[in-house]
Amino acid sequence: MSLTIAVISPVRQTGKTATAINLAASLAICEKKTLLIDCDPGQQTSYGTSLLTAPLKSSGFYAVMTDRSRFSQEILTSTLDFLNILPAGADFSRADFLFADTDGHVFQLRDRIKAAAADFDYIIIDAPSTMPNLSKSILLAADWALIPLNTDVRFPVRLPAQLSEIKKLFSQIIMLRDQFQLRLKVAGILLNKCEQRDDVSEKILKEALNILGEFILSSRVPDSGEVRDAFAVGKPVGVHDVMSFGAMAYLDLAVELIGKLKTS
Ligand SMILES: Nc1ncnc2c1ncn2[C@@H]1O[C@H](COP(=O)(O)OP(=O)(O)O)[C@@H](O)[C@H]1O
Ligand SMILES: [Mg+2]
Repeated sequence: MSLTIAVISPVRQTGKTATAINLAASLAICEKKTLLIDCDPGQQTSYGTSLLTAPLKSSGFYAVMTDRSRFSQEILTSTLDFLNILPAGADFSRADFLFADTDGHVFQLRDRIKAAAADFDYIIIDAPSTMPNLSKSILLAADWALIPLNTDVRFPVRLPAQLSEIKKLFSQIIMLRDQFQLRLKVAGILLNKCEQRDDVSEKILKEALNILGEFILSSRVPDSGEVRDAFAVGKPVGVHDVMSFGAMAYLDLAVELIGKLKTS
């Protein structure tokens, strides 16, 4: 049975796409059959990625949502044996509209993923920062939400503002779980763009998060030139520079989640 992890946060530029690409690649390196679904209008996950073996041969997410029979044919292989990718596709900007009504369309993504679940160990969804209807559908389809937090002190969305958005996301998760009897849980908050491990700043963060502090994952991702460079050329950092701290951080994250999500 597969586990679906939504990499999600309503705050832009927290590292959702970077996390989704690098986590998916790290799971694949651990020989877990992984499907990466690109639901980001920036389409960095798919159009930027040099991992795709056939970049233009998929109509992508929107086509799959409008025609269930196309799911397997639109999924692309990648240069990593255990990684497949469903690109966002050219019509992706219409995807939010597709999930806007209330007559069951909101569950379409969940249905498609259920049908593909036997083929994968992990399904990673790179969620958009905007597109509220699609984001809700992603939460309804996921078993786990992974929430990156940008800890860079220069990041214009300051920590209190990010935390307030994360708290709203937690409330939405609890509400959806109760309303639809979902298994959906929070896998953790990922501290992204961290400076060197620093106990003082971590204590401040935990206090700021208050009761959500217990959700902080042990793995954290450094602010890394290699991650940035790899992202710019559409590669996971583990493929771009296997010996870098960034590559090791995402491998740590994959290993932590493999252990944690199995036992939860
Ligand atoms: N750990 C990191 N180190 C360096 N740069 C990063 C890191 N994580 C993300 N970035 C960079 O930050 C920018 C925003 O990341 P992205 O994943 O697109 O955010 P989001 O998907 O949440 O909008 C990208 O240019 C990416 O390369
Ligand atoms: Mg993104």
